[in-house]
Amino acid sequence: MPSEECFVYITLPSQTEPVTAGRYQLDTTRQGAAVGQFVYGRSYLERKDRVEFDPVELKIQVPPFRTTKLRGNFGALRDSSPDAWGRKLIETRLGNPSPSEIQYLLNSPDDRAGALGFGLNVQPPAPARAFNKTLDLARLIEVADQIVAAEKDPAAPAPAGADAEQAEALMRAGTSMGGARPKATVEDEDALWLAKFPHRDDRWNNPRVEHAMLTLARECGISCAESQMTTIGDKDVVLIKRFDRNKAGKGYLRSRMVSALTLLDADDTPDTVDKRQKWSYLLLADEIRRAASGSQSKDLPELFRRVCFNALISNTDDHPRNHAILAKDQAWSLSPAYDLTPNPMIALERRDLAMAFGTWGRYANRLNLLSQCERFLLSKEEATAVVDGMKATIGESWYRVCRQVGVSERDCELIRSAFVYEGFGYDLADPTIATDDAEELPTTRPR
Ligand SMILES: Nc1ncnc2c1ncn2[C@@H]1O[C@H](COP(=O)(O)OP(=O)(O)OP(=O)(O)O)[C@@H](O)[C@H]1O
Ligand SMILES: [Mg+2]
Repeated sequence: MPSEECFVYITLPSQTEPVTAGRYQLDTTRQGAAVGQFVYGRSYLERKDRVEFDPVELKIQVPPFRTTKLRGNFGALRDSSPDAWGRKLIETRLGNPSPSEIQYLLNSPDDRAGALGFGLNVQPPAPARAFNKTLDLARLIEVADQIVAAEKDPAAPAPAGADAEQAEALMRAGTSMGGARPKATVEDEDALWLAKFPHRDDRWNNPRVEHAMLTLARECGISCAESQMTTIGDKDVVLIKRFDRNKAGKGYLRSRMVSALTLLDADDTPDTVDKRQKWSYLLLADEIRRAASGSQSKDLPELFRRVCFNALISNTDDHPRNHAILAKDQAWSLSPAYDLTPNPMIALERRDLAMAFGTWGRYANRLNLLSQCERFLLSKEEATAVVDGMKATIGESWYRVCRQVGVSERDCELIRSAFVYEGFGYDLADPTIATDDAEELPTTRPR
């Protein structure tokens, strides 16, 4: 059966150079099923400063791990690989529409989220020192636009330079980061930033609205990634400061980072049973309690605030890759919030978040939020104060914050219906309100 393998490196806490940690092997059976195996190296296991890749799956232990999920990939490794946008670039560059998981890992640049790296040599390569600079953004946006245009209309005459050449240019810019929107990693004097570009199908100025939502979330007491706007020609770009990298001398310290998808041991294939059962803030809260026991008293109320915020801005794109935990040293804790997007919908009665969080499942509603608040370590009184306080803040401030950071009048009107929608306040105990979509409440998963 066809087999590929690569070495996995890690930049340990307080270090800026990677060491070799283990080996990942991917086999494809005759029936086409992918089987992944990972083993920590003996010399890595002997190190006093060794750390686990993630707190649920690849814990420090000797026997090899095996998986058939995620096309034979392990969650922590998958979280280090590019997603829709970065994958598209690799496919274009390789001229191969479906590379294997190992090919994605080996062909992606070293700006990946978290502390892992991948290569074919036992010894890790020197860490990437040369990231694209914020000054290069104009060229990067141009290349991203060309790639989107070529995807929309493959028959269109290729703009200057072949597709592969454009992908190559963007690849050098560093795009191992996840997500579907066009983006690149850029560096200024003292930090790395995730630059998120406009897309030609955007209905409003997405980068600016994203910056506004992070600003609004901060006003609501949520711990968020730092963001700032920059304008290149007529294009707005939002720069999100990387919270998994910290400049130290000539290099970067790297925090380990895993998504909630990995923490939940879930899949993100659309409409699977797995998705319905595991995509849950309640289960996520349980996992955080286990994985981040030292910071749970801070992290769980914080997670509750984020669910509340998402419900109040109709952020229905709050899927498990849009939440993560980080470990700078040994201990894991909830990462700052990122990727907050309002979704103005027509429905006034009921809007659903991507993950369940109460007795009425995913229903973005005040009583639903309060129904299971104890799972987030909040009493009914505390949770009520959070929900009602945030409802008032968002109702009063969303427009001012948007305008202050330069969202246009027109765009404010386009997104207005996302904020504090009517159904948020419905009394779910009222029998005239249809709640039959309510999903089964996930219970604590035993370990
Ligand atoms: N400030 C940050 N520091 C480190 N990693 C980040 C940061 N912001 C985002 N990420 C990582 O990059 C990924 C992509 O970012 P983001 O979710 O903002 O992109 P997106 O394209 O809008 O995503 P989506 O496909 O969910 O719309 C995230 O899933 C997360 O792993
Ligand atoms: Mg995202």
